[in-house]
Amino acid sequence: MIPSILPTYNRAPLSFVKGEGVWLQTGDGRRFLDLGAGIAVNALGHANPDLVDALTTQANALWHVSNLYQIPAQQKLADALVESTFADSCFFTNSGTEAMELAVKMARKYWHDRGQPERSRILTFEGAFHGRSSAAIAAVGTEKMTKGFGPLLGGFTQLGWGDHDGLRAAMAQPDVGAVLIEPVQGEGGIRPVPDQCLKGLRDICDETGTLLIFDEVQCGMGRTGKLFAHEWAGVTPDIMMVAKGIGGGFPLGAVLATEAAAAPMTAGTHGSTYGGNPLACAVGAKVMEIVSDEGFLEGVRARAGRLRQGLEGLVATHPQAFESVRGAGLMLGLKCKAAAGEVVQAGYAEEVLTVPAADNVVRLLPPLNITEAEIDEALSRLDRAAARIGSDAG
Ligand SMILES: Cc1ncc(COP(=O)(O)O)c(C=O)c1O
Repeated sequence: MIPSILPTYNRAPLSFVKGEGVWLQTGDGRRFLDLGAGIAVNALGHANPDLVDALTTQANALWHVSNLYQIPAQQKLADALVESTFADSCFFTNSGTEAMELAVKMARKYWHDRGQPERSRILTFEGAFHGRSSAAIAAVGTEKMTKGFGPLLGGFTQLGWGDHDGLRAAMAQPDVGAVLIEPVQGEGGIRPVPDQCLKGLRDICDETGTLLIFDEVQCGMGRTGKLFAHEWAGVTPDIMMVAKGIGGGFPLGAVLATEAAAAPMTAGTHGSTYGGNPLACAVGAKVMEIVSDEGFLEGVRARAGRLRQGLEGLVATHPQAFESVRGAGLMLGLKCKAAAGEVVQAGYAEEVLTVPAADNVVRLLPPLNITEAEIDEALSRLDRAAARIGSDAG
């Protein structure tokens, strides 16, 4: 008999009743150190007092009004995002996938309104992940994502990772209107795009007038030690998708865009009942206030250095388990020699939570405000977990 929850997830036999900072507690009182943070969502940890305060203050005043009306918390968050980024305008969604949907529509509408609707094709990259909607799975195009869900939305071409010749050839096609890329691939196995490649991509897009779309759903909001990951390369996109960390655990996403890219999205061309809801935006505005502070980001970079150094040590100590460390800031991946799933399981036994990714990588995406002592504790738990790999204790 089918379970009452549609069985689309392979869930661990773990359930948590309380969270505080980087810690999650089970009903029987076990305390797990959470290096997954809801897959890069709980950017400021569990039950962060500032976010609880922002949420409860808003909850006591007003939960929901439609986008038929002005929403001050939404305006505050939009102003903060515009002030701190390349963007001139924002649209709020409830998730990364919804941000993906709008990014695709925005790119197509841009070319439609310029009298070149044939430039509807969007180039994407091997290993990418942009969500699970019909557009998002078609964009990625892998059999794993798309099998059984045809006919797929057309207008996407996937390019090989690092295939510069393929990119040049594809960009020469007259129907290409946009390129979509994660500056650091998350689900694909924590693969940062080298700065010079992002710069090169910006240059080719400028030469051809092609829109550049960054998916910063996982790598954005301070995760790499800058507010947005593309800042490391010194380039900006035309459109950017954001979600996960922006709501600190409350469902929230956004599309940010330049005026040129955003202008064709006039009244009636897009909408959402819940997107930009007062509760989500009150929390989002507080997250933004904390995370966009340069002192906070400096702290993220320092903590990231400590974690990375410790992980390099683990790779040296446990060559049977790990091969290398990769990533940026507090978006780190342990490329495993053992099966990544086995490493995650060994972590459960040592009460430390990590997240598997493609390419046999285990992801570490802790809350950005994890302390130095908690990083050291995480490293000892990972050390003990790694010792289980290939031993009888595993
Ligand atoms: C880079 C990226 N884009 C889009 C998404 C989809 O976001 P959501 O699950 O909020 O719909 C994800 C989710 O993991 C992601 O990592």
